[in-house]
Amino acid sequence: MTAHITPLPAETVSPGAARKTVLEVENLSLAFRNADGLLPIVTDVSFAIAEGEAVALVGESGCGKSITASAIMGIAPDNAEIAGNITLNGTVISALPPKDRRRLCGRHMGFIFQEPMTALHPTLSIGRQMTDTLRHNLGLSHKDATDRAAELLDRVGIPRARDILRGYVHELSGGMRQRVMIALAISCGPSLIIADEPTTALDVTIQAQVLDLLEDMRRELNLAMLFITHDLEVVGDFCEKAVVMYAGDVVERGFSADIVRSPAHPYARGLIDAVPAHDDGRTRLTPILGTVPPVGQWPEGCRFAPRCGRADAQCRTRPSLERHGVTDARCWHPLEDRP
Ligand SMILES: Nc1ncnc2c1ncn2[C@@H]1O[C@H](COP(=O)(O)OP(=O)(O)O)[C@@H](O)[C@H]1O
Ligand SMILES: [Mg+2]
Repeated sequence: MTAHITPLPAETVSPGAARKTVLEVENLSLAFRNADGLLPIVTDVSFAIAEGEAVALVGESGCGKSITASAIMGIAPDNAEIAGNITLNGTVISALPPKDRRRLCGRHMGFIFQEPMTALHPTLSIGRQMTDTLRHNLGLSHKDATDRAAELLDRVGIPRARDILRGYVHELSGGMRQRVMIALAISCGPSLIIADEPTTALDVTIQAQVLDLLEDMRRELNLAMLFITHDLEVVGDFCEKAVVMYAGDVVERGFSADIVRSPAHPYARGLIDAVPAHDDGRTRLTPILGTVPPVGQWPEGCRFAPRCGRADAQCRTRPSLERHGVTDARCWHPLEDRP
């Protein structure tokens, strides 16, 4: 099978025009094979991202967000068994041999991780890492790759780009490292960016600057963006749509504004209520009681039921993801105070 990806049109799509789907994830399930058999980690995850659209993958730590991203990127651990389809610009990349998949993903997907030190090489200069990527994926000459790397650093707001290219990642602040990651992620003209908690390790002012930069890049380059976060507070402002995950399940999916304003799933409600509110001058928050059950200890039926005030006997059977009002939710007793 020959892989073919149609390049995105360079011009920005006019508002209201149908936007092309860049990433489609259909019924993605992932389980780790170990001595005892198969350990399910992620079950039946489906969502799509169009060009120019940011979709948030939200949930507490341990819900399967990063593993879902690694399955999309084709870098899940070797003992992972993956089912379902992942389609990038019309090509079912989950069906490609690893070599073809790496080639396509290097060119068409960019990644930004929480900790740039794990993604950037400590003993290779920043310039070397950027030019290697550009030469490998785009076949540029050394000179053209260096010029492009300097342009990219300039574009992401790094001053003295030529000097920085000669330097090393440990010489940079956290915010600057994240800017280098963003420059690398966009360097080969991808159609999709996957950003896994890109601002979690940064302090608040720098967080806002990095989010602004990501948003600028998304608009300017018409990028599809999968934005992974445990922080629902940033989702409403930054992402058009959201996919809420709990214990390896998608529990709610829809427009972020609808989910933030009036979630259908009690877990999504809990995440929103756990965000500190400052409106009366004091900080109020209602944490969700309990913790996410570890993989291998998920209850039968609804996985959130043990933490849910609305749970009853019916919740011992597994609800499916269905439309409730304006969003899709996996719940037998969705919240009713909806528009
Ligand atoms: N290589 C691995 N082997 C076994 N379990 C793993 C591995 N990687 C992640 N997990 C488990 O998978 C679950 C989901 O992890 P992850 O996707 O990292 O969660 P999140 O990004 O939502 O915090 C966690 O319970 C984690 O312990
Ligand atoms: Mg994670």
